[in-house]
Amino acid sequence: MILPAETRRSLEDALAQVRNHSLIFTRWGLGERHSVGLGLAFNFVGPPGTGKTICAEAIANSLGMKLLVVNYAEVESMWAGETPKNIVAAFRSAAEQRALLFFDEADAIAGRRSTAVASLPYQREANITVNVLLHELEAFNGVVIFATNLAANFDPAFERRIRAHVRFEMPGVEEREQIWRVQIHPSKTPLARDVDFRALAEEFAVSGGDIKNAVLKAAATAAADSRSERAKQIHQEHFERAMADVIAAKAIMQQSLFRDEDPFVRAIATMQRRMYVSALIAATSLIVALIALTIVLIR
Ligand SMILES: Nc1ncnc2c1ncn2[C@@H]1O[C@H](COP(=O)(O)OP(=O)(O)O)[C@@H](O)[C@H]1O
Ligand SMILES: [Mg+2]
Repeated sequence: MILPAETRRSLEDALAQVRNHSLIFTRWGLGERHSVGLGLAFNFVGPPGTGKTICAEAIANSLGMKLLVVNYAEVESMWAGETPKNIVAAFRSAAEQRALLFFDEADAIAGRRSTAVASLPYQREANITVNVLLHELEAFNGVVIFATNLAANFDPAFERRIRAHVRFEMPGVEEREQIWRVQIHPSKTPLARDVDFRALAEEFAVSGGDIKNAVLKAAATAAADSRSERAKQIHQEHFERAMADVIAAKAIMQQSLFRDEDPFVRAIATMQRRMYVSALIAATSLIVALIALTIVLIR
């Protein structure tokens, strides 16, 4: 993985803590004496595609553990009313498999416990969820990693249980160039002579995830070329077009996600509403006029 020095340092720190933790509590046997509150929780903070998930995988790998991934956003939205039960199940299954528990997209946890509007049913459920999560965290002996996009404003009780926050920043030019390089195979990927990763890194200020998607897209286009397999190569143009596509696709996603907040879209919606109302008034007037005309004619 290509990471800025700062991120790498705090990750290594976290890893050292995990290693010592398992030494103390497993091999030194203290886990058998003290069974509560031994877990370690970390929070990986950063924008999408900055490597939080693969980092969690790498950590699990280096510890020789399985990684159990729970998409928190999904658990919350799909299982209304069932969320606490699912959280308990996730912790149970991580304990059984001795797996590292990874809560992806965990932003929803942040600031959920509220006393002000606790009378609202969904708020009450959110409070229960956070309480259950806190309780499980306390009882869990393993390692939990949360991944959040926002610099989440965690509930203080929750914050206390997080050992460290690891920041994943968007990569700079240097890192982007290296990420482009590690996404291709050093000897097997057929690159054309004109490929210039430095230029791509300078042109596109994107995340590692975007670079990965662009490389796969460029390779697919190059492979679809009608030339014989030996003549097929990935050119600079393939990479550039693929990256433009990736960026465009993301822009569309964002537009539909934030549709209601887009002033242009809102203006059009308002205009359509006004036209609709005008048309309705016009139609009503016409009908009234026709009725009046009919009455006059009958008389
Ligand atoms: N710093 C990085 N170094 C190397 N590859 C990266 C990096 N960041 C992202 N990637 C690539 O992008 C893909 C998506 O990253 P991911 O870990 O899913 O990001 P996140 O979980 O932060 O959204 C990874 O599989 C990897 O190929
Ligand atoms: Mg991820």
